[in-house]
Amino acid sequence: MNAPVLSVRNISKQFGGIRAVSDVSFDVHKGEILGLIGPNGSGKSTLFNCILGQLRPTTGHVEINGKPVDRVRPADLSLLGLGRTFQQLSVFPKMSVLDNIILAGQEHEGTMLSRLFGKPDAGLTGKAEQLIEFFRLTPYRDTPAGSLSYGQQKLVDAAMAFMAGPGIVLLDEPAGGVNLTMLTHLKERLMTYNIEHGTTFVVIEHNMEFVMSLCTRIIVLAQGEIIAEGKPEEIRANQMVIDAYLGG
Ligand SMILES: Nc1ncnc2c1ncn2[C@@H]1O[C@H](COP(=O)(O)OP(=O)(O)OP(=O)(O)O)[C@@H](O)[C@H]1O
Ligand SMILES: [Mg+2]
Repeated sequence: MNAPVLSVRNISKQFGGIRAVSDVSFDVHKGEILGLIGPNGSGKSTLFNCILGQLRPTTGHVEINGKPVDRVRPADLSLLGLGRTFQQLSVFPKMSVLDNIILAGQEHEGTMLSRLFGKPDAGLTGKAEQLIEFFRLTPYRDTPAGSLSYGQQKLVDAAMAFMAGPGIVLLDEPAGGVNLTMLTHLKERLMTYNIEHGTTFVVIEHNMEFVMSLCTRIIVLAQGEIIAEGKPEEIRANQMVIDAYLGG
């Protein structure tokens, strides 16, 4: 197997007396769609935030393409080839879908340079339009994001994570609160993107139908620790996972 594109090494995160993430290590390989599941409060979002520099881990570090990264800074994510979505929607409701997606790209691109050389969008509009088309949002291109349905806003939110052209995208509950039609559409688009671009995904989700049919491998967290790892069918049959999370 090729070297991992992302390695999580012994990450722990303590909040006062709470050990939210406890000595978590795993590798992610190119082109994988890795699911991260577990009960509410099991540390999934905290782990993402430690990997992506939103939080400073108490211990541990990440390696990108085999190179240790001392401290990931959110501003450096695209340089490191990482894109992400947050558990909470992060669209600006009054801005159009197009402008939201362009703005997500400006967080990554050399905006100073583009200003200096008089290229106001440094090709971002074209890229944003491609993503709008890819996620089938064309009818809403100029619509304020806040007037779309919740599911459509989640789709815009997902599209924003792709603006940096990242090699790895981490999605925190992309299907949370989304109806079945939109969920099926989102899953199909992510799978197509994965096949067409070889992009690697790590996906946190509670919707088991979504996770089991999208992911090639699943890691289960409970109380901050990895309790299981395997193919979807192995996870579905794992008694520890059933007891801790999936229920009877
Ligand atoms: N900023 C914070 N300060 C203090 N405690 C926190 C903070 N963020 C998270 N926690 C605690 O850390 C634990 C893990 O929370 P986290 O949000 O990572 O769980 P999660 O698995 O993402 O849950 P959910 O599925 O509900 O999103 C919880 O006990 C939570 O209360
Ligand atoms: Mg969470």
